[in-house]
Amino acid sequence: MRLALRFLLPLALVLAGLAYLLIPLVDTMTLKWFVRDLEIRSELIGRMVEAPLAELLTAESKVKVLNYFHRIIQDERLYAVGFCDHDGKVAYKTLTYPDSIPCEGAGTIKAGQTALLQLSQGAVHVAAVGIEGNGRKLGRLMLVHDMSWIERRSSDTKWYLYYLFAIIGAVISLVTVLVAHLSWLGWVSGVRAMLRGEGLVALIGNQQPDDDLHPVAQDLRALIHDLEADKRMRDESQMSWTPATLKTILHDHLAGDEVLIVSNREPYLHNWKENQIEVQIPASGVVTALEPIMRACSGVWIAHGSGSADREVVDPRGHVRVPPDNPTYEIRRIWMSQEEEDGYYYGFSNEGLWPLCHLAHVRPVFRSSDWKQYKVINERFAAAIIEEAKTDNPVVLVQDYHFALVPKIVRDHLPHATIITFWHIPWPNPERYAICPWYHEILEGLLGSSILGFHTRFHCSNFIDTVDRSLESKIDRDSSMISYQGKFTAVNHYPISIAWPNREKAQLPSEAECRTRIRAINGLPHAHRVGVGVERLDYTKGILERFLAVERLLELQPEWIGRFSFVQIAAPSRAKIDEYQQLTRQVIALAERINQRFGGEGYRPIHLRIEHHEPQAVITYYRGADFCIVSSLHDGMNLVAKEFVAARDDEQGVLILSQFTGAATELPEALLINPYNIDQCAAALHLALTMPPTEQRARMRSLRGIVQEFNVYRWAGRMLMDAARMRQRARIARQTGARDAPTTTGGQA
Ligand code: G6P
Repeated sequence: MRLALRFLLPLALVLAGLAYLLIPLVDTMTLKWFVRDLEIRSELIGRMVEAPLAELLTAESKVKVLNYFHRIIQDERLYAVGFCDHDGKVAYKTLTYPDSIPCEGAGTIKAGQTALLQLSQGAVHVAAVGIEGNGRKLGRLMLVHDMSWIERRSSDTKWYLYYLFAIIGAVISLVTVLVAHLSWLGWVSGVRAMLRGEGLVALIGNQQPDDDLHPVAQDLRALIHDLEADKRMRDESQMSWTPATLKTILHDHLAGDEVLIVSNREPYLHNWKENQIEVQIPASGVVTALEPIMRACSGVWIAHGSGSADREVVDPRGHVRVPPDNPTYEIRRIWMSQEEEDGYYYGFSNEGLWPLCHLAHVRPVFRSSDWKQYKVINERFAAAIIEEAKTDNPVVLVQDYHFALVPKIVRDHLPHATIITFWHIPWPNPERYAICPWYHEILEGLLGSSILGFHTRFHCSNFIDTVDRSLESKIDRDSSMISYQGKFTAVNHYPISIAWPNREKAQLPSEAECRTRIRAINGLPHAHRVGVGVERLDYTKGILERFLAVERLLELQPEWIGRFSFVQIAAPSRAKIDEYQQLTRQVIALAERINQRFGGEGYRPIHLRIEHHEPQAVITYYRGADFCIVSSLHDGMNLVAKEFVAARDDEQGVLILSQFTGAATELPEALLINPYNIDQCAAALHLALTMPPTEQRARMRSLRGIVQEFNVYRWAGRMLMDAARMRQRARIARQTGARDAPTTTGGQA
């Protein structure tokens, strides 16, 4: 009722206002039309009677003229007729002719003119028509039309309009009240159903409420989803992403909410170096992205304590405050025995899941002993999250394939937590994934997440297909939402990136100096052309393939022998694993073979540097090289490509990028290669070495624009904003008293 009144009263006022403005307007318009009508009519009568009247006037037969006049006024609207002679007198007139219409003096109406007069008998319209006979002007015929019918009509019209507005008002009110009532009922029951978790089921389940309407509903939902995504993209594209933006998001959208991060690598390691404890920051993209969040919200970062002096600096509960120079948050270190690390990290994570998810033709190894340790460590990390949580609904950011089981364990203990899991590596297709003997547990574990993120849409869709194949679940592909055992997981793509601007770069010398420096380090002449590759020594990175491409280049374009060298920076990685040891041997052997084949007199085509390089040293290489090659056989994203682009303020240098990296979808101005096609890669190396500076600049400028805009703060910020939206929905669900509402994700709304 209140709703009806709130609507009806303004509607009545609006309609009354409209009537007040419109009715006089309509009245004036209709009067004009009628007067115009009378003018035409008078002209017509004048033309018709002119000849017979002129004849009667010439005959000077008064009786005949008056009879004629009386015949004319038989027309009900013609009220009176008079004739003014050229002396200005009323020579003939009907009895009805008003004396107040003069033939001369003030108010005279001349031939061809009309007038509206308000007389004692009412309003009249007078038209004077000139009459001529035998080429002589005889006088004016005065045609007086009654206007009272016009007034009557005008008043009728006004009333019609009043009635019309009243009827329109009544109809609108009725329809609105009816629709509002029905929508309210529908909305309320819809919300109730949604809060009970039936909304999604009804739309995506097998029992469709109405099969005919289902495709329309699907289309509409897809459209709404697209529009929302569009709007979000627009909103987000207008934001400039910096650490400050992340802080604002935390402050505005997640005000006061607790944030916990879980990753295998810790953001700061404490190592013994010559009896001194030294702090090391791992060169990791994830650390760069997540550090600003931690600094802004003073959360806790839970990670494996793997530094040699890590235990020396923590409190009894394994906490250490960081960053060391200005502590703002805490690392909670998790300890594990060598046996546990072997099973969880080297075994299941890196001999099982890593090759399973990367198409690099390395056979995954699954041992039940590794799986056992993986479960133990996942439970340990999950227990630490639960222990660290000060509230029942923290935001938990779970990083990577080391913790596939953590989301479900946390969800079971903290059902109101918002769990964002990010899988930093590719997700394989369902057939390949099924190789894993514990595929079911891993999927169930991941579906404990509120949001599950991948770098590319393609990996999201592989994951959804895998769930579709393996679990009894409900999947809404339009919104990428999975419902499993009454819980919802949103599967979204968030392409990771790098920090822009880069702090290290600001302290570096110019590109020209970097060119000189890297040539000096490698004992190369100043004009020597240099290509660079930077990665962990990993079989997914295509290091062998790029060496073969260098060899092919020197075969096909011998002019580069002695004038070009390739520097490979390879950080030792996971060295306990056979595959990695074998790869290291192969890489060394291949570099030696090529160097022997084409090298000599102090010249080596390949400079292989298997050692850890500090970030500043790496950036010096990026800035001083002619090109950088990323030839991964398969890569979730690949940040080296983006780091190289970010390092080149001079807009020079060429990026050669494998088409099998996530980065390739974002960086089309790179020279895209198939690393298995050695001839094509060799051609790309030649093209890079001969590319004119103008083309380099055009490509590099475009690449830099993309990396700047789609930086790592955007990656983290978009996930946090999605989490904030979900939490808001969950809050609404709780406030509306939906006890049985799913409390996890955006799927509930
Ligand atoms: C990949 C993984 C990360 C991992 C990094 C370094 O990028 O996605 O989770 O931290 O490699 O590997 P490591 O085994 O040394 O941590």
